[in-house]
Amino acid sequence: MPIVVVVGGQWGDEGKGRIVDLLARKAKVVARYSAGNNAGHTIVNERGEFKLNLVPAGIFYPEKTCVIGNGVAVDPAVLIGEIERLQANGIDTSRLVLSDRAQLIMPWHIALDKLDEEARGDRAIGTTGKGVGPCFIDKVARRGIRVADLLRAEDLGPRMKSSLEYANRVITRVFGGEPLDFDECFQRYREYGARLAPHIADVQDTIIEAHRRGEYVLLEGAQGSLLDLDHGTYPFVTSSVPSSSSGGAAIGVGIGPTDIQRVVGVFKSYCTRVGNGPFPTELFDETADILRDHGREFGRGEYGTTTGRPRRIGWLDAVAARYSVRFNGLAAVALTRLDVLDNIPTIKICTGYELDGKTIKTFPSRVSTLDHVKPIYEELPGWMTPTTEVRAFDDLPEQAQAFIRRVEELLECPVDLISVGPSREQAVIVNPIF
Ligand code: IMP
Ligand code: MG
Repeated sequence: MPIVVVVGGQWGDEGKGRIVDLLARKAKVVARYSAGNNAGHTIVNERGEFKLNLVPAGIFYPEKTCVIGNGVAVDPAVLIGEIERLQANGIDTSRLVLSDRAQLIMPWHIALDKLDEEARGDRAIGTTGKGVGPCFIDKVARRGIRVADLLRAEDLGPRMKSSLEYANRVITRVFGGEPLDFDECFQRYREYGARLAPHIADVQDTIIEAHRRGEYVLLEGAQGSLLDLDHGTYPFVTSSVPSSSSGGAAIGVGIGPTDIQRVVGVFKSYCTRVGNGPFPTELFDETADILRDHGREFGRGEYGTTTGRPRRIGWLDAVAARYSVRFNGLAAVALTRLDVLDNIPTIKICTGYELDGKTIKTFPSRVSTLDHVKPIYEELPGWMTPTTEVRAFDDLPEQAQAFIRRVEELLECPVDLISVGPSREQAVIVNPIF
């Protein structure tokens, strides 16, 4: 049975949580493999609406094991908060497994995230401020503290001491900030360790054993591929090692690339971005407001799950999307929020960029180039009818079918799933992904 990876194809918030929630029905194990609580999923099901930053969306299904892989940066306070909220809603969290090799977000990472952004001034990345970047910096610098360290005071104490000493030197001497207190941090993290201990394990075993038993395993990426440290719009990217794109999935849970059978990319029917950085198809007119506020009264508008910031909005960028299809090795696209386009008379798709009188079809590496390209649009007639009740491709309005077929051509990848609303059943399955 396959191990399937689900990644976001654009700049995040494509609706991965929703797609994972749907696919999780057949999976036995659902695992997160990268990033941290900068990510956020909103899941709507019969128990209500849930915002999750670390716990995989599979937690709502009984009998499924949910894994937080070694590639994830874990803020233990946030994780404990999520576990408690789920438990308060009657959801069994005993099937949550946290990798002993995952890195921990420490209080100084959060302090450094903010200080670094302030120091960048008008070149700020627009981070979520959760300490994710500084945590991965410490991981690569070999100063990081791992989940396993929480379990033994004799490991945690010295590691925390030297890591905090270094951080305090940076905080005070580079940024002129206030140093953090060791004893307070140490006590707090010891308590987190005691609370999380029942969940801490080696996750490779969980995944490989399930795979060998013939069960489906779903690996979920965080953020969007265009925020990837290597392939994204550097430096306006997120710092995750392993990368958030599909290439990071095997590393992030401790399996090999040949163990993965299929990669599915989630794309919105348009495009959004939060934080700073290039966005060639960004819209500034009333269409942006209409798309942003669609469903806002039901909490479905385009506002960040983690930070509440309004998302920047634009048309679907097929140049960027095809680039993402290629570096993720996508076998299928899940196209989300088709219904948000239900009342848009003319829909545009960017099929190329114009730069200095020339047409380019590949995604430029430089931010300074991306800031200057002019999108070349193809216009398609809208369908101007609700799609929220549609459950079969042939029942979609003709114009919506034409839009999807064009997306497939431009992205060079089949659209296997279409979502037409926030709840589990509001989906059109063209080709079963599992
Ligand atoms: P960081 O990950 O907090 O360091 O933020 C780096 C960039 O990634 C900023 O532009 C954030 O807005 C963006 N970002 C991080 N996580 C997410 C996410 O889950 N969805 C959308 N954007 C994100
Ligand atoms: Mg999100």
